[in-house]
Amino acid sequence: MVRVFINGYGNIGKRLASAFSHDKEIQLVGIGKYSIDDRVDEAFAKKLAVYVPEQKIPDFRQKGYDISGTISDAVKESDLVIDAAKDGFGYTNKVNFYIPMNKSAIFQGGEDRTGEKKVADIIHNSRINYDQAANQKYVIQGSCNVSGMGRIMQPMIEKFGDKIQRYDVTLIRRWADLEDTKDVKDSIEWDKNPHHQEDVKSFLPSVKLYVEAYKVPSRMMHLHQMTIRFKNKIPYFDSLSDIYHEEFGVAVLDKVNGTADIRLKARELGFEHDDTNMVHIHEETMRKSDDTLKILYSDDQTGIVIPENHLLFQSMMFGRPKNMAYEHTDSLFQISKKRDMLEKEFNT
Ligand SMILES: NC(=O)c1ccc[n+]([C@@H]2O[C@H](COP(=O)([O-])OP(=O)(O)OC[C@H]3O[C@@H](n4cnc5c(N)ncnc54)[C@H](OP(=O)(O)O)[C@@H]3O)[C@@H](O)[C@H]2O)c1
Repeated sequence: MVRVFINGYGNIGKRLASAFSHDKEIQLVGIGKYSIDDRVDEAFAKKLAVYVPEQKIPDFRQKGYDISGTISDAVKESDLVIDAAKDGFGYTNKVNFYIPMNKSAIFQGGEDRTGEKKVADIIHNSRINYDQAANQKYVIQGSCNVSGMGRIMQPMIEKFGDKIQRYDVTLIRRWADLEDTKDVKDSIEWDKNPHHQEDVKSFLPSVKLYVEAYKVPSRMMHLHQMTIRFKNKIPYFDSLSDIYHEEFGVAVLDKVNGTADIRLKARELGFEHDDTNMVHIHEETMRKSDDTLKILYSDDQTGIVIPENHLLFQSMMFGRPKNMAYEHTDSLFQISKKRDMLEKEFNT
């Protein structure tokens, strides 16, 4: 059993804790919590061991919480830390705890791969560089948008290779997650320099890729418009199902009007946290014109990275072959079953 500590219990941390606590190969040491709020009660209700910064122990205990120890204690007890801190705090945690205690760590997509606050050299995307993460000490799991782009681009590359000239992607990003209490601002905001472009190029260095990103007032997933330009006319293929049918974590859906349709269907079908854990290609919206192919797909912002972390964990800790890791992750998250359920709901 691998002893895992999840440092941070926000939207990503709580999902990681739910999933990882069901894996018999993992002994979940507990979760790291930094503020006293409803999430502390949620963690105790789920019988998770809660660790907090040393200076905050008196505050938590005064409120009656049975804290298991300090963040430092939890890191010490672990073989691997999955850091789910808010953007940038992963770097501080690495410097203060993981390096001094010589512990392996997975970081999330809000951390840097270059510059002063870099936490790791590799951004993981299971479809592309799973094997490279084997036995690495520090790896970043790509963000939700970056994970989705890799999952769509790699099968295209394998099918059409150097017939493809370039990719232009517009990311339409949700403002907040379902659980966030912050207001959804009535505005469309742009990102002057989206990190997603360089993140994807870190694992697909030879592609020509241009990314723009906008944030819109929604909590219901991201939507990506990907334009693929071929060197000549688009090679023949019948439908996107031909390319993506066998892909892990890709559903090909028709009869969807918007991202909320899928999120609400996930809730209706009883998927944990209302997550589908995948991307959904909207086949009806595909357009082909001479050398230009347009694909539209939605990306489950909170859900997609959780199985990716689980795959990365298996690469780093066991060096397990990728097909076996996919099988194990699928048995935990039921992603193939969920995909079949969604395809049945929307495609008949
Ligand atoms: N939300 C998404 O859709 C999404 C998708 C993919 C990747 N990510 C990435 O995942 C990471 C976490 O995002 P999130 O959405 O879960 O954020 P979040 O909901 O804001 O949660 C962040 C958590 O970090 C905790 N925290 C504060 N200081 C910390 C420290 N020093 N060490 C560890 N944790 C600390 C906070 O604890 P308290 O609440 O107790 O103060 C909070 O629970 C970010 O890198 C983000 O870019 C997010």
